[in-house]
Amino acid sequence: MIPENPCVIENYHIHSARYGPISQAFVVAFGVSAKIRVMSMKNRKILLGVTGGIAAYKAAELTRLLIKQGADVRVVMTPGAEAFVTPMTFQALSGNAVRTELFDAEHEAAMGHIELARWAEQVLIAPASANFLAKLGQGLADGLLSTLCLATAAPVAIAPAMNQQMWHNAATRSNLNLLTDRDIQIIGPASGDQACGETGAGRMEEPAEIVAAMLLDSEYQPLAGKRVLITAGPTREPFDPVRFLSNRSSGKMGFAIADAAVRAGAEVILVAGPVALPDLYLVNRINVETAQQMHTAVIKHLTGVDVFIATAAVSDYRPETVATQKIKKQKSTLAVTLIRNPDILADVAKQATPPFCVGFAAETDRLKDHALAKLEQKQLDMIAANPVNDGLGFDHDENSLRVFWQGGEKAFPVASKRVLGRDLITLIAERLEAKTDAPN
Ligand code: PMT
Repeated sequence: MIPENPCVIENYHIHSARYGPISQAFVVAFGVSAKIRVMSMKNRKILLGVTGGIAAYKAAELTRLLIKQGADVRVVMTPGAEAFVTPMTFQALSGNAVRTELFDAEHEAAMGHIELARWAEQVLIAPASANFLAKLGQGLADGLLSTLCLATAAPVAIAPAMNQQMWHNAATRSNLNLLTDRDIQIIGPASGDQACGETGAGRMEEPAEIVAAMLLDSEYQPLAGKRVLITAGPTREPFDPVRFLSNRSSGKMGFAIADAAVRAGAEVILVAGPVALPDLYLVNRINVETAQQMHTAVIKHLTGVDVFIATAAVSDYRPETVATQKIKKQKSTLAVTLIRNPDILADVAKQATPPFCVGFAAETDRLKDHALAKLEQKQLDMIAANPVNDGLGFDHDENSLRVFWQGGEKAFPVASKRVLGRDLITLIAERLEAKTDAPN
């Protein structure tokens, strides 16, 4: 249900540490009320799945917040969740019977599990354990909750919670990639002290953040009607038919930003260097190899672009000559002359009417100084700097950003690139709005 007047927002009382209070005041602060698609949570049928983990106790607060938003919540618990919290807690908070078993004759008679899967307008699993992530990835139906996830047509969101080592494990990463490809919304996790005594990413996102993420994901579209052009990944500069000069960029940061821009309502063109990432839903992807090809593709697609985000790690130099045959190892040394590549971002920012230009800076030292110098030299609206000397940045699933613009800055601590992509897009929308509204 979309109210006729987009400024009428009911039942928004969530205070999010990341977004601030989600209320009419939030909308006014962002100045984007006319662009927001408002769908109240009132009467939304939410199936809340709770899996085993210490964070299960936080699902009680989450249930309370969802009910306060006016949602109709039905809770399904796995046997693991019951080891931490009793069904009675959720029954009292949601006002509905809690389901735990797939083959429960009494409950099946009242509402069969397929009926329950059809009833749901949104599935939210919080906390989602590493085990449940794996089940979801493989499409197992070995219990009530996993069966419901397979049987529902409703969108699924998960708030993972696990030990930081489990979160970083390659198996978990690949399960997450599978889930992301299937458009499952991943909320969090947060970083910090964990119940197991370790510190790192894997703590379940706070209940208010989960509700805020769900609200914003479906309702906050600050880039609706905007065209966004993004570069991502490395470039390859060939020496000969089989060898090239390149760097460690995986494209993950740029792809996460492209995904966030689509979710924010933008039309997105993604010029991608050679990366091993799948296509993104609703993103127009153009694959290139060299910096010159990236330059040509960007300039060709610049018409009508409102925001240009240069996430790519473009090779500054390329071999002056490219051998047509494989170079043989005849001498003990080999000298190659490198020449400068065009600076794509600087050329876009130099246009007569440039889009809102966002650069990236990967720095090993004096991050702020180097980032501000690039902001100034390339005449950018904004620059996002990331430290790349402590295992973050290139080719990792997590990153941290310090974003600078004329007269302002904002830091985003270590988080998944997906979360950072959304944070950055929210900030870009805010700054774009401020620039558009500023007197000339
Ligand atoms: O791809 P991932 O593995 O996820 O890693 C992400 C990242 C670390 C590559 C990314 O977050 C990042 O920092 N990208 C910019 C890398 C960089 O250091 O760029 P730079 O300082 O060389 O260039 C500054 C800006 O100018 C960048 O926005 C770059 O895209 C742009 N540029 C640079 C040179 C060039 N010839 N053309 C450009 O457009």
